[in-house]
Amino acid sequence: MKTTGGSEEAKRRAGERAAELVKDGTVVGLGTGSTAAHAIRALGQRVEAGLDIRGVPTSYQSADLAREVGIPLTTLDDALPDLAIDGADQIVGFDLIKGGGAAHAREKLVDSAAERFVVVADPSKEVEEFDGPVPLEVLPSARRPVAEALEGLGGTPELRAAERKDGPVVTDNGNLVFDCEFGRIAEPADLADDLASIPGALEHGLFVGLADTILVGTHDRVEE
Ligand code: 5RP
Repeated sequence: MKTTGGSEEAKRRAGERAAELVKDGTVVGLGTGSTAAHAIRALGQRVEAGLDIRGVPTSYQSADLAREVGIPLTTLDDALPDLAIDGADQIVGFDLIKGGGAAHAREKLVDSAAERFVVVADPSKEVEEFDGPVPLEVLPSARRPVAEALEGLGGTPELRAAERKDGPVVTDNGNLVFDCEFGRIAEPADLADDLASIPGALEHGLFVGLADTILVGTHDRVEE
C-alpha cells in the first residue's frame, strides 16, 4: 500500500479515532491510502463485533481491504455515505491536496457526497501554505493539451510514472495522472477553478471547502 511518509503510529491513531465516529446502520465512505487503511481495519473489527454498516470504496485498494476485513460494500447508486473517512497529502485549515494514491477522482466524488467528511492524517501533512504538486487525473488522449494548459497556468506538470514497471501510472478509471508543481499556492480556490476548467483534466486533487473534521494523530493522542 502506498504511503506518503509520516509516523505509522500517528496514522493508526487518527484512523482508529475516525472509525469510532461511525454509527450503527450507516453508510461509510472508505478513503484510500495508508491512514484511511487504518480506519478500514478498525471498522472491520467493529463489524466483526456486530456493527452494521455498508462501505462505499474510493479505489480498488480500499474495496479489496474492506472485503478482506469483512465490511459489506455498496455504491453511490444505492446509498450516499453518512460519513466519509479519507487521508490527505497536505492540509491547510480545512482545505486539502489529495491524490498521492491516484484515487482523488473517486475520493472527491465519495467524500463530497458524504454528509460528513472526516480527514485522517499525521502531523507531517499540516502545512502553512500548499506547496506540494497538485495531482490531476487526465484522459490518455488529452495528455498534450492538458500539459500545455497547465504550463499556461504557470505549472510544471510531470506525468506520474509507475513505480514497479516502465510506463505511466494508470488510475482505477483507466486514465493518466499529472503531478503539477505550482510553487506556493496562495489562492487554492482560484487555482481549483482554473484546473476544473481544463478540458480532458477529469479531476484535480485540490479539495477546497469539502472537509468537515480534521483528525491528526500524534505519538500519544489525536488532535481535532
Ligand atoms: C490517495 C490519497 C491519500 O489519501 C493520500 O495520498 C494520503 O495517503 P497516506 O494516508 O498513505 O499518507 O489522496 O489518492
